[in-house]
Amino acid sequence: MSSIAVFDSGFGGLTVLKQLQRVMPEEKYIFYGDSANAPYGDKTADELLALTSGVCRRILEQDRVKCFVIACNTTTSEAMGRLQQMFPEQRFVGIEPAVRWAVRENPGKNILVLGTTATIRGRRLQNQLRELEGRAEISLYAATGIVPYVEGQQADHEQFVSYLQEAMAPYREKTDCIVLGCTHFPFVRRELQACFDKEILFYDAAVHVAEETKALLEAEGLREEIAGSEGSVLFMNSDPDKIEKEKELLKTYE
Ligand code: DGL
Repeated sequence: MSSIAVFDSGFGGLTVLKQLQRVMPEEKYIFYGDSANAPYGDKTADELLALTSGVCRRILEQDRVKCFVIACNTTTSEAMGRLQQMFPEQRFVGIEPAVRWAVRENPGKNILVLGTTATIRGRRLQNQLRELEGRAEISLYAATGIVPYVEGQQADHEQFVSYLQEAMAPYREKTDCIVLGCTHFPFVRRELQACFDKEILFYDAAVHVAEETKALLEAEGLREEIAGSEGSVLFMNSDPDKIEKEKELLKTYE
């Protein structure tokens, strides 16, 4: 039985793995966090390709893979096309900020899209915005302080909360919903909500990625082999000291 491989710059991808397990609990997964090289969000497309092709190779040394899920908006935006070219025999599913979904449900409202610097500047997001022009008030913000906090590189919670409060202050009055355009961000949904006086609607594309992956595997007849199996996760990380934390976060993340 081959694995579904899920990777990210670090812990963020666990928010996607959680959704994959919800829709396909019987599958065998490999999770790879590249915590030693996080954050990815300010790296160039060439750097991202070099890092993530190395990650794919290390995963392929472990097991046969039926699908790679790129649980990273930044990598999807900057390197997914070239990764697919480098590994033509592999299937790749990526993740993009759920802006279309947020606009469809909130026409004319104020939508704040949060992501990494690379995702916010990237062509993929700009294309989505062009397509949605005039249908909602969309603001973009590269929230560069969130990933280091989630990765534990900057651990002081109080300091993090004041960073977030300050960063969100210009959006406090008008924001109706927030698109979590980086897979690390769902871990700090509570802290984000606390920056606003009213209830914010959050959009996270992970649920769609899980459905898309399931549909792809079903269409290709790659779901049959799991009948009766229990499901498992092999945890990997470029910083092996982070593996225990991966397990704990996957267990506690709701
Ligand atoms: N979690 C990734 C994303 O979705 C990368 C974050 C980072 O390492 O900067 O963009």
